Amino acid sequence: MSVKEKNKLQYFQRYLLKINSISRNPIPFFMSIMKKHGTMVDAYFLKRFYLTTDPEVIRYIFQKNNKNYVKTNRTIDPVREQIGNGLLTSEGAYWLKQRRSIQPGFHRKRLEDISITMVNEINAYMDEVLDVYAANNESFVLDKEMMHLAYRLVSKSLFGSEVADEKLKLMDKAISEGQEYTVDLIRRPYLRFWLRLNGEFKKNQENKRMSQELIMDIINERKKATTPQNDLLQMLLETEYEDGSKMTDEQLLDESLVLYVAGHETTALALTWAIYLISTHSAVEQQLYQNTLSNFSDKDPAFSDLRSMGYVTQVIDETMRMYPPAWLLDRKAIEDDEVGGYKINKNQDIFCFTYGMHRNPEYWENPDDFNPDRFSDENKKKHVPHAYMPFGAGPRLCIGNNFAMMEMQLILSMFAKRYRFEVVKDQKIEVQPLITLRPRNGIKVKIHKR
Ligand code: HEM
Repeated sequence: MSVKEKNKLQYFQRYLLKINSISRNPIPFFMSIMKKHGTMVDAYFLKRFYLTTDPEVIRYIFQKNNKNYVKTNRTIDPVREQIGNGLLTSEGAYWLKQRRSIQPGFHRKRLEDISITMVNEINAYMDEVLDVYAANNESFVLDKEMMHLAYRLVSKSLFGSEVADEKLKLMDKAISEGQEYTVDLIRRPYLRFWLRLNGEFKKNQENKRMSQELIMDIINERKKATTPQNDLLQMLLETEYEDGSKMTDEQLLDESLVLYVAGHETTALALTWAIYLISTHSAVEQQLYQNTLSNFSDKDPAFSDLRSMGYVTQVIDETMRMYPPAWLLDRKAIEDDEVGGYKINKNQDIFCFTYGMHRNPEYWENPDDFNPDRFSDENKKKHVPHAYMPFGAGPRLCIGNNFAMMEMQLILSMFAKRYRFEVVKDQKIEVQPLITLRPRNGIKVKIHKR
């Protein structure tokens, strides 16, 4: 091989290595181009796209001119293929009709009833799982456990307590395997053919069929029940369109699956990062503990206590600033457009880089420091408008935001009262940005009872 050929090969190898490392974790690459080129960047990586951390641009796309922007096919098609055409995956007039009909169902009284189910489940989980880890002084993988807990809470909140645990476990397994399959397909679409050859496609079809059948069984059982429950399934069953009609079985199935899938991983990850940050910041841990004791030392928290959980809420808000579970939101322009002097072409993708916006020193002082005081009532007044959006923005704002905040407030305050977490030493804590922001190798912790 000539020297020239050798150089070419080395260049190509370096290029491939770079692509590989960017695909593995695009956050450092995105941060570096934002630092170099500002808050709206016309970038190229395999395809041309805009990357933005500009709150005004994001507001324009998600709110002011949201009708001109849809989710990109690359991410949403595989999700739709997996969980059907529900709130998260639908677009246009159909999405609007569903959103308008379902939104009122997330009312205060329903959340209050769900909070009772949640507190019972959290107590049971602490007794059955965390107390055992504590008694055995055994370490465990925090993100895995938070995923189990969030599954447990979302299934009970969706389907009530009368569904057998065995059925829920089967469904959890089928749905979580389906999610892994979908994530794989989004990240590496070229694998589609290989997944058919190696049997994964067939296995996934089987999982899909099983979870759909299980949910349809629950829906049919519920339709026969004489006493109405106050869970999310009941809310879907009672949802009425403007003409007085109700959802079909297919719509009930799709919307249940969407709530199930959208409702647990994001929450589990926010909890994981919160516990990690609390355990590595002793002043925050102490304040959280004192706050919990002064609010409900001798009882479980209730819905009416949520308002006085100011400090827990600040900790959650600050956690989602540093580690937004939905770290990147993508949109595609339907027609040519212009924002802030930038021309956006029809079909062009725009990535709203929430993680980058939340860590931008132009909007946040010392953005890499964990400081829940940023979210005190007084300090919130000083925030740059729209520079914080863990739940998205505009008409497609997360429909489960109040549900998720309540769940995290209850869990973190109940944990704080009973336990102290300790992050096991000598682990490399690194982010793994897939669709959501996971810890790459998991976070190992130990737990001590107070
Ligand atoms: C910490 C927890 C959560 C975070 C950070 C989060 C974040 C988000 C974000 C950023 C979006 C907007 C996506 C976009 O515009 O592309 C969204 C949408 C959505 N979320 Fe959440 N979410 C959380 C919890 C939940 C829960 C608990 C539920 C259900 C019980 C839920 C159900 C949904 C649904 C159905 C949508 C689609 C709404 C629509 O397009 O109309 N989420 N979420």
